Amino acid sequence: MPVTVRSFAKINIGLRIGPPRGDGFHELRTLYQTIALSDVVRVDAGRGMGIDIICKNPKVPADESNTCWRVAERVLRALKTRSKVRITIEKSLPVQGGLGAASSNAVATLLGLERALKKPLPPMERLRIAAEVGSDLPLFLIGGAVLGLGRGEQVVAMDDLPSFHCVVATPEVGVSTPAAFAEWDKQVQTGLTHSSPSDKIDTFSHSLYEWLNGSTYTPTGVPHKGWDRAEALLLDLVRTGMENDFETVVFPMYPSVRQVKRMLEREGAKYVSLSGSGSSVYALFADKETAAKAADSLTEKGIPAQATVTLPRARYWKEMFKAE
Ligand code: C5P
Repeated sequence: MPVTVRSFAKINIGLRIGPPRGDGFHELRTLYQTIALSDVVRVDAGRGMGIDIICKNPKVPADESNTCWRVAERVLRALKTRSKVRITIEKSLPVQGGLGAASSNAVATLLGLERALKKPLPPMERLRIAAEVGSDLPLFLIGGAVLGLGRGEQVVAMDDLPSFHCVVATPEVGVSTPAAFAEWDKQVQTGLTHSSPSDKIDTFSHSLYEWLNGSTYTPTGVPHKGWDRAEALLLDLVRTGMENDFETVVFPMYPSVRQVKRMLEREGAKYVSLSGSGSSVYALFADKETAAKAADSLTEKGIPAQATVTLPRARYWKEMFKAE
């Protein structure tokens, strides 16, 4: 019997890019948040050898370059086991959309394969394999609100945030993450960004601290007692001005993506931002109805958009293995 795993997406609430490092990566700071949109990954382990990837979406590679393949190979090696592994990916999430879909699929494979083989890996081995395969994998071993440090692979579980209504819109342009980082470096070298990357990276923890404490200390001057906590957090988020540095490079390269941000703002969103290097743009809304209306309105205009909610940690784990 294959093990079925729901592979959830993430968004980035703020992302600051630091200086390039000697290893070809950039230091960064981000707050990842899992959301309720997902792919489904089925993992089967039988007699024999080899790893097969099955996916109807032609944009998903079925060879050793697939993150699921790379994880499965490492899991078998770490467990010193041989098996014929079949990984079936049912795609709903956009490919290369900035929602971490490939990374999430890979972590779903890791967790599904452990179950299929009935051999759990030590937690540190899981984390090692995830970080080795990509910077955005380890967050999916935690779920909920996760602080991302280093190249994004160093993860710290944050206190769960209340669930927000949100809309994810994905304009049909493919943004390459390495190309976006390269463009960022070019802009820094030519002095096109306002401050140095190290200044920006330092401001991230300040903004995050300010945001998460805003509701308690009421720096907006408005008493939050009796307020809906999600609504209060949204207002404070706008006020602290958390940003995604990729907007500086991706919006000029793809003006249609900036346009989508403007459209979501006009639909009444409290906070709108690019996720990762895009092309997905997400918007946080105070209520379900406005979110649903915004998603419909963008879809009617030809921009694929879906209304959903952010997924706190307990729900992330509960729904991951829930039978369909
Ligand atoms: O780790 P991941 O496979 O997602 O990274 C893909 C590419 O994105 C890297 O090879 C690198 O060029 C770039 N990257 C970066 N800094 C990061 C994460 C990724 O420059 N923090």
